[in-house]
Amino acid sequence: TLFQFSDQVLIITPETQEQVDILKNVTSQYETALWQPVSPVYMKEQAEVHLFVPGESFETEQVYSGFRVSLPNVNELIEMQTMNGTDPRSTSTFYERYHRLEDIYDWLNRTAHDNPRTVKTILVGSSHEKRPLYALKLSFSDRPNRKAMWIDCGIHAREWISPAFCLWFVHHVSTVKVEITDILNNMDVYVLPVMNPDGYKYTWTTNRMWRKNRAPSHNPKCVGVDLNRNFDANWCTEGALPYPCSEIYCGAFPESEPESRAVADFLREHKDSIQLYISIHSYSQMLLFPYSCTVEEAGNHNDLLEMVQEAARKIRTFYRSTYKYGAGAKTIYLAPGGSDDWAYDLGIKYSFTFELQDRGEYGFLLPPSRIGNACNEALTAVKTIALKVMEKTQAPKSPAAV
Ligand code: ARG
Ligand code: ZN
Repeated sequence: TLFQFSDQVLIITPETQEQVDILKNVTSQYETALWQPVSPVYMKEQAEVHLFVPGESFETEQVYSGFRVSLPNVNELIEMQTMNGTDPRSTSTFYERYHRLEDIYDWLNRTAHDNPRTVKTILVGSSHEKRPLYALKLSFSDRPNRKAMWIDCGIHAREWISPAFCLWFVHHVSTVKVEITDILNNMDVYVLPVMNPDGYKYTWTTNRMWRKNRAPSHNPKCVGVDLNRNFDANWCTEGALPYPCSEIYCGAFPESEPESRAVADFLREHKDSIQLYISIHSYSQMLLFPYSCTVEEAGNHNDLLEMVQEAARKIRTFYRSTYKYGAGAKTIYLAPGGSDDWAYDLGIKYSFTFELQDRGEYGFLLPPSRIGNACNEALTAVKTIALKVMEKTQAPKSPAAV
């Protein structure tokens, strides 16, 4: 017991139900963080489990012997992500690094200040710990009756590539406009870079593996609601849990959390103009659409399928990366209370959740050197889908159809 192990990520594939049960036990009794699946309730035979094991849980050697260690040097990786350009030899740009919350707030102000005609900050609400939730509104044309799209990032705190994408996206849209003029002439874009600022802050200061927000519960040991289980879409049914200690805790009631409430309020207020909703997560490389809260098919299932299929095809052609795609419940698991399903039922019929890189190699600890590639893939998907939405919704009526 004098050994000091370093933090590790293990990949384990339980073969039998008995092994599944052992593994469930391990994750509940030891200080571990489950990376995949997100909660022990989803564990099943023959399905890979990605488990983060902190070094202090020294008994791990007995418990896990025989399993594959996928990331032996987690501490180094975390350090790499947070050092952030203090290395003078680093050639990476601002957008190829991860940023602490304060730096993202500064960036928001700077971006609005530097582009007074096209970028505005909108305060959509505040977090449990009273941090502001700022969205940017990008508007490149004064045409009347403009439609809009909404993108949010950072619902889940540990998915750092997600806020990084929102920054990347805003930068791309405001500098390389030409390429997407068509889209921007027709649509305004709302971008909320960090929907869960309290959680994000916490991943920088205290626990890199934090997922939920930071709202206390009646149990002083268990903090946080899973904001992507807190929306009013078959709220807290199978795939979410009513227990504050769970990673998929649905909260006390739908929209109980100020973060989900703020986004829901904004979307309700703007539902007549917003045609496209996209929520950015990681990891696993998937392009998902409703429903996740039921196995039933969405009304325009085939349209949505066609869109993600085309997006995945482009990503494969341009970047040689594979993205799975489909309706959430059938592609991963039942997960009620998600923002995409809720937005869909509100009437935003083009609603998506993207899971960005990678497929488990680094998981939530995607190295900064991979940010550019991951973001360009997601950007390809956003552009492809936005164009298709325009085609479908703004197609000129043929004379015969008048
Ligand atoms: N990994 C995401 C989550 O568990 C998937 C989101 C898919 N959409 C949904 N409504 N569950 O939140
Ligand atoms: Zn997520």
